[in-house]
Amino acid sequence: MSLKLLTVPLPEVRTDALVLLLPENADVAPFATVDRLTQGQLAAVLEDGRFKGKAEETLVLHAPGSNVKRIVLSGLGKAEEITAERLRRAAGRGATTARDTGARQVTIALPAPQDWHPKKPLDAETMAQSIGEGALLALYQMNAYRTQDREEIKSVEDLTMLPPVDVDLAPYRRGLATAKILGEAVAMARDLILHPGNVMTPERLAQEAQDMGKRVGLEVQVFDKAELEKRGFGCLLGINQGSVLPPRFILLEWKGADEAPIAIVGKGITFDTGGIGIKPGAGMEKMKYDMAGGASTLAILRAVAELELSRHVVGLIPATENMPSATAIKPGDVVKSYAGLTVEVNDTDAEGRVVLSDALAYAVKDLKAQAIIDMATLTGAVGVALGRSVMGVMGNDEALIHRVIQAGEHTGERGWHLPIVDEYEEAWKSDIADLKNYGNRFGDAINAAGFLRNFVGDTPWVHLDIAGIGWSDKDKPYSPKGPTGAPIRAVVDVLRTWQPVG
Ligand code: BES
Ligand code: MN
Ligand code: ZN
Repeated sequence: MSLKLLTVPLPEVRTDALVLLLPENADVAPFATVDRLTQGQLAAVLEDGRFKGKAEETLVLHAPGSNVKRIVLSGLGKAEEITAERLRRAAGRGATTARDTGARQVTIALPAPQDWHPKKPLDAETMAQSIGEGALLALYQMNAYRTQDREEIKSVEDLTMLPPVDVDLAPYRRGLATAKILGEAVAMARDLILHPGNVMTPERLAQEAQDMGKRVGLEVQVFDKAELEKRGFGCLLGINQGSVLPPRFILLEWKGADEAPIAIVGKGITFDTGGIGIKPGAGMEKMKYDMAGGASTLAILRAVAELELSRHVVGLIPATENMPSATAIKPGDVVKSYAGLTVEVNDTDAEGRVVLSDALAYAVKDLKAQAIIDMATLTGAVGVALGRSVMGVMGNDEALIHRVIQAGEHTGERGWHLPIVDEYEEAWKSDIADLKNYGNRFGDAINAAGFLRNFVGDTPWVHLDIAGIGWSDKDKPYSPKGPTGAPIRAVVDVLRTWQPVG
């Protein structure tokens, strides 16, 4: 889908649907031209309360005899409460409502900040970015596996933004350029996650990283099984043992500055059956999303390259399936991690923390990273604790933890700081080895982070448990049912506004 800025006056706009974002008690005056297209309907529905402008409210009007086939009103809520998140949601609802009426071209009118009189007016760049992002993210679809009735699929081909008249277009252009980069990065991650386990294998994920890296100018390296054996990635190899598909360790580098890298680490379990401790069958198909952290890593590096950030960023993805078989790792087996610590795998379904530990150790030992941010669909427990809209944020550096949570507030990818509790250490200390991978289900999100902490040493580190937020079982205003792509935008925001930590 294209995203373009239109620079023709409203009366000359030809489109299938024009979306207007309106707050509560909106004045019709700034929209007099649109009101004429609708032959006074716009004024009428605002006047008689058929459209109140409440957050997430929509209404479709027709503009007979004009070049605009439909007008979609999308509510922003109270003018003084407008935030970037409200704009994303309203743009998302407006765009999907337009699409569902059959529109293939959608034009969203970008307001001038003074049109709404919010208490804290948003700058034009943030406004354009938020609206562009909301619409792009909402219109995401994945139809790769549909072979029948394709002509019935309603999708938007052209998305255009119409800026207000007589304004400096530069901030609008900047905002939309960022929205396009982020929207496309998130769409790529959602695609990778949606592809089923028989397609998105470790090898295919590595190939996608290489192809994408070439397109955007990243240095991409892939360690195959022989290389991992040579280097001693015992944890990743141990979890891979049950699979007929070989593992991959994927490295993506953007060297935008001469500094120690910031490492972005993502769990890349391309399918999690639970291994010998196999999961119940019901709902297991969703475990293709156990590589959401890895997909997010790819997307973040892509965005970093396209934004040409002046930072040194390295993405690391340990990728494998977790399968049961005659060769699979057994409960109680002990493996030697890349860090040198021995790990008793007492639960084969707590595989994520095991494979991540090798990647964290690589970031510390080989990259000498200045900081590490990891993302993983790590525990069911984080979903129990925080639900489907809030990620668990844990780590060893208060400043970094705070930065991620703050960024998530701006991008609508909320996080909550959970402590790592030393008193719980029996959950990760083994009777036979240095560590064990599973203690008990009480506070398992914390226990998993406690396990991971053993591999980062003094390097400032934040761990994002995205098992809850990575997938949505229902449509949200700018995130259709399925993989959300969270927390890609929050992490990119942290990198764009990077402050050294530690
Ligand atoms: N990938 C899962 C965590 C998960 C659960 C992600 C639900 C998304 C939705 C992880 O590898 C896992 O299986 N965790 C187990 C740990 C326990 C049984 C050892 C869990 O949390 O249930
Ligand atoms: Mn598991
Ligand atoms: Zn898993």
